[in-house]
Amino acid sequence: MTGRVDGPDKVTGRARYAYEHPVDGAAYVWAVPSVIAKGLIRSIDASAALALPGVLAVITPDNAPRLPGTGDPELALFQSRAVAYRGQFVAAVVADTLETAREAAGQVRIEYQQAAHDVTLTQSHPGLYKPDYVNPRYETDTAVGDFDSAFAVAPVRVDATYRTPAEHNNPMEPHASIAAWQGDTLTLYDATQGPSRAAGQIAAVFGLDPSAVRVIAEHVGGGFGAKGMPRANVVLAAMAARVIGRPVKCAVTRPQMFAVTGHRAPSIQRVRLGVDPDGRLVALCHDVFDQTSTLKEFTEQSAVATRHMYAAPHRRTTHRVVRLDVPTPSWMRAPGECPGMFALESAMDELASACGIDPVDLRILNEPAVHPETGQPFSSRNLVSCLREGAARFGWAGRDPAPGVRRHGPGSRWLTGTGVAASTYPARAMASQARVSASHFGRYQVSIAAVDIGTGARTALLAVAAEALGVPETAIDLRIGDSALPPAMIAGGSMGTASWSWAVVKACRSLREQVRARDGAVPPGGLTAQAAIAADIDALPDHARYSFGAQFAEVRVDADTGEVRVPRLLGVFAAGRIVSPDQARSQFIGGMIMGLSMALHEESAMDPEFGDYPNHDLAGYHIAAHADVQDIEAVWIDEDEPELGPIGAKGIGEVGIVGTAAAIANAVYHATGSRVRDLPIRLDKLLS
Ligand code: MOS
Repeated sequence: MTGRVDGPDKVTGRARYAYEHPVDGAAYVWAVPSVIAKGLIRSIDASAALALPGVLAVITPDNAPRLPGTGDPELALFQSRAVAYRGQFVAAVVADTLETAREAAGQVRIEYQQAAHDVTLTQSHPGLYKPDYVNPRYETDTAVGDFDSAFAVAPVRVDATYRTPAEHNNPMEPHASIAAWQGDTLTLYDATQGPSRAAGQIAAVFGLDPSAVRVIAEHVGGGFGAKGMPRANVVLAAMAARVIGRPVKCAVTRPQMFAVTGHRAPSIQRVRLGVDPDGRLVALCHDVFDQTSTLKEFTEQSAVATRHMYAAPHRRTTHRVVRLDVPTPSWMRAPGECPGMFALESAMDELASACGIDPVDLRILNEPAVHPETGQPFSSRNLVSCLREGAARFGWAGRDPAPGVRRHGPGSRWLTGTGVAASTYPARAMASQARVSASHFGRYQVSIAAVDIGTGARTALLAVAAEALGVPETAIDLRIGDSALPPAMIAGGSMGTASWSWAVVKACRSLREQVRARDGAVPPGGLTAQAAIAADIDALPDHARYSFGAQFAEVRVDADTGEVRVPRLLGVFAAGRIVSPDQARSQFIGGMIMGLSMALHEESAMDPEFGDYPNHDLAGYHIAAHADVQDIEAVWIDEDEPELGPIGAKGIGEVGIVGTAAAIANAVYHATGSRVRDLPIRLDKLLS
């Protein structure tokens, strides 16, 4: 949702997105994707492309500038003749016009030495290994007690395997960059979730001092994690601009995004739960099988939420990953928690059925007093309140516990059911700085390299700054979206608002103290305060900090066709202080809609023959549309989170998607008696 501050700019088209910045003399670059999934480039013939009028350069591994350092192999563009996945950028054409660049890219002739590829994840893949850590730096495996022995003797057990498909972040604005060099300094207009991080990483790629790269991101049309780190498009624009000595524009097409801008890897997850006769968990195990590319290790942390959700004396979580000849997976809204909680919360529903306990009651019964693995106290934990509040609002009481077959009305072919699932996401903040100045004339300037990716960041930060300064919002000029401003955390990991507002409030308070020390007078030269929060974060007490939520879904399933509709979705969240209620509601329901989309539609289908995702556009990759969303509501309970800075915001970008797919799958089971363990819940799976 757009904030009230910049909403008018966005709806009138005044707001500029990366590709729209006017840059004099810009040329265009178009990438050539690999058509094999594994092998080597044997030869490249660029003569036909170069012969086209308007073509300025063809960049290939043979002539590309050497990049001194990257750290991220996805950014080491054209540095090798090896092909790691189909769709990987292997060459590029720079031309005077976009059309010429595209036409010429199609005329670059590449001969490959193709090798047999492997693009299929299985639970028994011989290449599965234990990574040193899982994203971003979680322990790979954990264990408490003796799971195997406890599970073997538990009177009621669930042992089920769940699958989630590859899913692609599809922000409205595809990745795009404009690069312009002035000598050895580089200016980038970029669609990024983090100008500071992007500037640092691109500087490293080109071997520049971090101060030599400036990244400007005035407005960004969504990211969902895909724009959390720079992608090939940024390097491509900068490299092409370097080669031709002119500014260059680079836009990634929707189909190209399916290869080069990250996605959620498919997962296979085995969950085992054992309870004693009164429904208390005694044994709990979550084993994750995941894939990454040969280029780069990224292991989705799908079992981490299981580590803190429910009490059980005997427990284990594991992650295994295999390197396949596939595009590199990455962050997609709630990496880890999102697919992981589909598995755990589906399994909890199966357990509720197996032991005849209401699924809300089962979750409340297994609420831990402290973190069940580390023993840390929770800074605040309100899952039970969310479940109770949601059950009351949703009208959960009196629900028929038996699954299927409940007709919507006499003679109706719609079967109806309801389901519940819990939600959670870590509450964290990351190092950020802010600068605040007061002028002699009563105006204030607040500067931080935050970025608005469509969430209404300007609206939230203005409200925070106005409150902290004790002045009206109209007295403040807020500057964000530029790496030249004080460095800040990315808009990601549900940490944007929490981190930025912490730094902004700290700077505002420090400025107010300066003003107070001068008896309220601001000198003609003005006053400035800058604040950093890294030390405050390091000093946080050793507590477990999470947001929680409860998702309730009502579904209708067509008994003849298997069509699933979701007439009602309710999410109740406990996420610390809610800074900006309109934007927060939109974030929560946005996450829930994405969860609905995950439950019913989203699936990047891998073609094993070519090793690629053929449904790589919005015709083939289905995303929930307005007509899929009916009565959807998100509410929150007031929660005091005293530890996470002066604002006490826990972050809300991701908790909304977590658990939604499980709530819907559980409701489908309730309606039909069919348990779908592999997403999405397609018609054919219900009819088979
Ligand atoms: Mo989020 S997937 O950390 O942008």
